[in-house]
Amino acid sequence: MKKIVITGGAGFIGSHVVRLFVQKYPDYQIFNLDALTYAGNMANNEDIAHLPNYHFIKADITDEAHIDALFTEYQFDSVIHLAAESHVDRSISDPLAFVKTNVIGTVNLLQAAKKHWAGHWEGKRFYHISTDEVYGELHNPEEFFLETTPYDPRSPYSASKASSDHFVRAFHETYGLPTVITNCSNNYGPNHFPEKLIPLMIHNILNNKPLPVYGKGENVRDWLYVVDHARAIDTVFHHGKTGDTYNIGGFNEWKNIDLVHLLCEIMDKKLGRTEGTSKQLITYVTDRAGHDLRYAIDAHKIMNELGWEPSLQFAEGLEKTVDWYLSNEKWLKDVTSGAYQQYYQNMYQGR
Ligand code: NAD
Ligand code: DAU
Repeated sequence: MKKIVITGGAGFIGSHVVRLFVQKYPDYQIFNLDALTYAGNMANNEDIAHLPNYHFIKADITDEAHIDALFTEYQFDSVIHLAAESHVDRSISDPLAFVKTNVIGTVNLLQAAKKHWAGHWEGKRFYHISTDEVYGELHNPEEFFLETTPYDPRSPYSASKASSDHFVRAFHETYGLPTVITNCSNNYGPNHFPEKLIPLMIHNILNNKPLPVYGKGENVRDWLYVVDHARAIDTVFHHGKTGDTYNIGGFNEWKNIDLVHLLCEIMDKKLGRTEGTSKQLITYVTDRAGHDLRYAIDAHKIMNELGWEPSLQFAEGLEKTVDWYLSNEKWLKDVTSGAYQQYYQNMYQGR
């Protein structure tokens, strides 16, 4: 029986990873360890919280003593590490928060795994989830990020993720910790916090609010449906080569403005609005400082070596995402009003 601690499991991607593992592997014990920052939402795991192999632990990965005590208590044999400060705009206004969680928190987890596994690496795995942003930005349309592309982080967020990746590799090289890293492109799908482009646009279209497009909307992102990312994480967790790195992406590049136009068209149809209504909400605003021009992942390594591939076309994924937000208006309202932060208190009252 495996005992896997998944950090950040109440967040966007983590919640999909937790759901997939809890449902697919009933003989694994899954521990969702999350500090429930503004980005953590217990409602994201509500549908699986009753399952006997699901366990929630409220903990901060920067809390050395608590993390150490949890490794002693639960004897985790694997870590799937997603907990992070994840929003680039927030990293620009508060870089230190990103150093604390993304760098110090990661090193803290590495230390705990090294101490508790104590050289008995058999059956152990420390899997670190990272981002394509560590590679910097692309200008030449023929170029893609490969696993061998040199790191060139340009925002405080990507600098903190690059630093954590380096520490994970350092623990593998120096101490032999059995690590693996994946670097993924932009995810989209249900449970995405409405500070990020796609859910923010859906929220604002629904509420007839301006759609803020940074700069000229020319920046390009490579979008992957979040469940496909979770499937890739399952594949790498079970079959990835120790010490290795795999890029994950959807071969699905979109200019921001084209993506916003597409969302406007889908939403007009779904909401029964006259074609062109939502596009009138588009507002060009001051560009993000140091805004990376283009990200594009070459995902051939994971496809060829491990047999993973994206399952969903973008049109289908985007429609599913819009449908999810339209049928989960309460989730959206609770998140934007702050009510979701009461969820944990109510759910765990008296325990
Ligand atoms: P998110 O912001 O939605 O969720 C982060 C989760 O981590 C939240 O539940 C939060 O409560 C928790 N957390 C934050 N600080 C913590 C701390 N100190 N201790 C314990 N828990 C803490 O993030 P996401 O978008 O789901 O991203 C998850 C991971 O995937 C991150 O490591 C991110 O860098 C990486 N990633 C994200 C994307 C993307 O498009 N969202 C793409 C590639 C990689
Ligand atoms: O590439 C992977 C990364 O993708 C992850 O590592 C990050 O955690 C995740 O947040 C995401 O980063 P981005 O900065 O690419 O995502 P965001 O949704 O914030 O922005 C997507 C693009 O849209 C980007 O070019 C900025 C632009 N944008 C964003 C917002 C929030 C706008 O034009 N307007 C907006 O209001």
